Amino acid sequence: MTTPRLLKTPQEVRWFERDLRRRGQTLALVPTMGFLHEGHLSLMREGRARCDVVAATIFVNPTQFGPREDLSRYPRDLAGDLAKCGAASAAVVYAPEPATVYPDGYQTYVSVEQASLGLCGDRRPGHFRGVATVVAKLLALFRPDVALFGEKDYQQLKVIEALARDLELGVEVVGRPTVREADGLAMSSRNAYLSPDERERARALSKGLFAMAAAAAAGQADVAALVALGTSPLAEANVRLDYLEVRDAATLSPLTALTPGRPARALVAGFLGTTRLIDNLALQVP
Ligand code: PAF
Repeated sequence: MTTPRLLKTPQEVRWFERDLRRRGQTLALVPTMGFLHEGHLSLMREGRARCDVVAATIFVNPTQFGPREDLSRYPRDLAGDLAKCGAASAAVVYAPEPATVYPDGYQTYVSVEQASLGLCGDRRPGHFRGVATVVAKLLALFRPDVALFGEKDYQQLKVIEALARDLELGVEVVGRPTVREADGLAMSSRNAYLSPDERERARALSKGLFAMAAAAAAGQADVAALVALGTSPLAEANVRLDYLEVRDAATLSPLTALTPGRPARALVAGFLGTTRLIDNLALQVP
């Protein structure tokens, strides 16, 4: 394992990228907000399988947090993250300061319209504008061949796919399956906020989704019935529901019934105390 090179400025990234291209190498980018877990590391390993070099970014992006959200307490561990990136074969890590990414006078933002509507887009106004802005900046800076994101943030993945397509960035956006704890809980940096009791109750999110997927696979096509099934473990575990919806997996348009051959997605958000967790799963009727 080698410790990845730490880059702090856009100029250092440009030099790195030019050098890489001079050597004729391909580049995979894994943007993150740090406090890395197995989900992030699996993206880096997949990046290394697809490209010669992997770069990761670690930046807790202030523009994607609302005024009452957890920006200041978002967990951080740069030293630990660098070691993990090295073990997952990332060659460089870009970890800029907020004032480097958003200097005084900064005024350019990217909005992805359709994919940002509903779900987390409604509950967290401005969130996807912040995500799209920072991801567009990172893609323009690194000019990677491939950029990898987890399906855990499914709506975010759809926003980024649209962004890369519409702005013709020439990058392949790759979504990779959610990595889960043994009891089904989706891995997330925010799981660190949970008390032992909340952690135990948090498995209700994936339990509900798995029940929906099993019912769909057994032929249940009615979305209202599926949602009732997915909601019941949340009520039992006293998880405050933010939303549980079934949407078209490609367009995210709302569905009232599943159709054979048309992939759907169940997406859930719920609160354990003050911690908001999200998860989602593919649904398919036979
Ligand atoms: O998924 C995340 O960690 C962030 O939203 C991202 C894509 C790195 C943008 O800040």
